[in-house]
Amino acid sequence: MDQTIKSRPMHAQSVRAISECHTLATFTEEPAHITRRFLTPPVHAVHTHLRQRMEALGMTVQTDAAGNLRGIHQPANAPAKRFLIGSHIDTVPDAGPFDGILGVTLALELVEIVQERQLPLSIEVIAFSEEEGVRYGIPFLGSRAVAGTFDEKLLAYEDADGIPMSEAIRSFGLDPTQIPSAAIEPQQTLGFLEIHIEQGPILEAEDLQLAAVTSIVGQTRGTLTFTGHANHAGTTPMHLRHDALAAAAEWITAVETHANSTPSLVATVGKIFADPNATNVIPGTVHTTLDLRHPSDPIRTVAVEALIAQAQSIAQRRGLTAQFTQTMNEPAIPMDLALTANLTAALESTGLPARILTSGAGHDAMILAARIPTTMLFLRSPGGISHHPAESVREQDVEAALHVAANFLERIFATINNT
Ligand code: GLV
Ligand code: MN
Ligand code: MN
Repeated sequence: MDQTIKSRPMHAQSVRAISECHTLATFTEEPAHITRRFLTPPVHAVHTHLRQRMEALGMTVQTDAAGNLRGIHQPANAPAKRFLIGSHIDTVPDAGPFDGILGVTLALELVEIVQERQLPLSIEVIAFSEEEGVRYGIPFLGSRAVAGTFDEKLLAYEDADGIPMSEAIRSFGLDPTQIPSAAIEPQQTLGFLEIHIEQGPILEAEDLQLAAVTSIVGQTRGTLTFTGHANHAGTTPMHLRHDALAAAAEWITAVETHANSTPSLVATVGKIFADPNATNVIPGTVHTTLDLRHPSDPIRTVAVEALIAQAQSIAQRRGLTAQFTQTMNEPAIPMDLALTANLTAALESTGLPARILTSGAGHDAMILAARIPTTMLFLRSPGGISHHPAESVREQDVEAALHVAANFLERIFATINNT
């Protein structure tokens, strides 16, 4: 392990980064569960807490119009170009305490480390407002705004309570017409680092603590609606039914079979809504969702087309219709080669193997990677568990992540000084 790093144990900071995640987990929409959707009331408490920490570090803090909390550390002697570090503060329903937010609490520890080392590097920490896509069915709202790729049509989308996104932003005290001003200027930016839990079992299986991410798989998401006929459950003979839920069930099994037979394809039907949703009524309409991911975009596209065709053929055979509405089509994206090489070098100089991984999960990094050099550092997920309250991290992995990320930032600083 590098001498400078050895002599600066980061145990206390890693303990604090974890304990901050537990504190922030108490700011939730549902008591006893961690559920924090885009710009819901508990996000105010998260902002207040993080803002206080940023201000205590001497950072200049603002909330942009998409609800991203942004803190700038700009030493007087540092070049103006900033290096961005961050992750998201929203969660899935009944989440664990680390997905996203650990990348924010670690970013703040890194600012403190950079200050202690008097490294003249300008850093912007971004707590992205939305990555999961839970409230509006569209993920990455925060990072799209930062990347300058937020489509204003999204402002008309409504949540499950019929609240348009523009109104959610206004009720939070922000002006949605100002979202374009949240965009970074790529020329003024050195790059972006997102530190995140792996959310999968690979590092644990290999008894490794950390990995650098080389690419993020592409994702398609959408809604599949089966429309049949609602009717009386007691009087309608089986052969005269057009049961939308039975059709959806057949299709869901077909989705699983298709993914099982296609290497590296993962496909999930995670949501289902049957109408009228009554015990004694044949379901007339069913809305399901599809989440499909693959490292190769052509294979992903072919799989989506095959599954839509299969839904239509199941529907036709049963006298129903099936309609697919795509809500997301995000290509697979490589991480920046030079930044990722710095990250693997940082792993090695910290005494760790230079393991690289592809991310099966989506991350804000995939949106920023389209605009600026971007890389990610993964921490082992005990039990491979995530999107679940049992999600956890090991303290020694968090400490190792701080060592590696600090070494990485020193390399970034050395690179800009040599150019
Ligand atoms: C984000 O967590 C995703 O669904 O990949
Ligand atoms: Mn997540
Ligand atoms: Mn995440």
